[in-house]
Amino acid sequence: VIKNVSGRRVWDSRGHPTVEVDVTLENGVMGRAIAPAGASRGTREAIDLRDGGPSVQGKNVRRALESVNGPIAAALKGLDVQDQGGADAAILALDGSPLKDKLGGNATVATSLAIMHAAAADAGKPLWRHISDMTGYAPSLPLPEIQIFGGGAHAGQRVDIQDFMIMVPGASSFDEVMEITNEVYFAAGDIMKAKGKLAGVADEGGWWPMFDSNEEALETLVQAIEKAGETPGDRVVISLDIAASEFGKDGRYRLALEDRDMDSGEMIDMLGGWLDSYPIASIEDPLSEDDVAGTVEFTRRFGDRVQIIGDDYLVTNADLVRDAQAQGACNAVLIKVNQAGTVSESLETFRAARAKGWGAIVSARSGETEDVSISHLATGLGGGQLKVGSFTRSERMVKWNECLRIQDTLGVRSFVGGAPLAATWWG
Ligand code: PGA
Ligand code: ZN
Repeated sequence: VIKNVSGRRVWDSRGHPTVEVDVTLENGVMGRAIAPAGASRGTREAIDLRDGGPSVQGKNVRRALESVNGPIAAALKGLDVQDQGGADAAILALDGSPLKDKLGGNATVATSLAIMHAAAADAGKPLWRHISDMTGYAPSLPLPEIQIFGGGAHAGQRVDIQDFMIMVPGASSFDEVMEITNEVYFAAGDIMKAKGKLAGVADEGGWWPMFDSNEEALETLVQAIEKAGETPGDRVVISLDIAASEFGKDGRYRLALEDRDMDSGEMIDMLGGWLDSYPIASIEDPLSEDDVAGTVEFTRRFGDRVQIIGDDYLVTNADLVRDAQAQGACNAVLIKVNQAGTVSESLETFRAARAKGWGAIVSARSGETEDVSISHLATGLGGGQLKVGSFTRSERMVKWNECLRIQDTLGVRSFVGGAPLAATWWG
């Protein structure tokens, strides 16, 4: 039984304030979680409540903390912590707005996740096991998507494309994915250094993208995979997050780095050319969030050979996923709990995806913390994928390392490997 819910201000990986929530039960058991924060956000995702004003760049979270310590705490007191759906419904009833702008998505997500942590601790289970038991999915260690170069909104728009990542569906264990990723990451760094282009890292820990074109990043990534002793497209494949809403609107796309303007059809042709030239197994937000016709057309042309993920396009919203399934747009959805605002809504989105055989990729945000909830979520839901950012900086590594700890319990054979991509390119 929930006794107390209290929020405090803590600070995220970009140095911005964020919301941490402690949920304490009558028996003294406690659960804790921290809200992450995106930089390339979808317009239909839950809104973080920020104070505005002159201090801490207007990003203070006093009002979100008031939501937690006031109405949310009052509504949750006395509820059964094992009833995640009931607790989330109580939070939703308080807000009533689809985008959570009354209480703040940062307040609701930290609370909802803290309830889940408290429920697991109360049951004496690791969080991934609790999630598996709560949802009925068999647990397995996810296939990671790991960033090598960061771009877009995470690198001052130095290049237009946001994430240049690898996946290692050919690895035999999660542990092996880590080792191969280490080799590719540092091979990429060596190549950048040799070109005189090494300039630190972007927001999620990937190398800063000192490139003259977006495609140069792709070429360099292929070279890095080779330098690491791998054959591109064999065990190691490429995954891109185009994050096209950052540079596309109303059917027009502008690559600032190349001073290139395109319409939707030209954008699709350019990406199709990349799919032909590089071993790309997964692509996220290839068109902007308002380009339904473009996304449908892209999926029609390439959906049978590449995973097409909706992030800003679907904002972890079950209704939008069902609409997209009916229209034939995308074949996978990114699951970001703070886009939805509660655990229960995120699970509904996951179930909607699975109901039509879609992929589902649990994802961090570019602003992160030591919170490891998503490692457990990806594992507990089973058969999934996990996107966390790159392979440096502890707010990223803590998520990968948590999966390694889970591997000790679940066993190396619980790694899903290429299975999540089997329906698309990898098959
Ligand atoms: P964000 O980006 O967390 O900055 O919104 C992550 C993504 O686009 O996947
Ligand atoms: Zn994205």
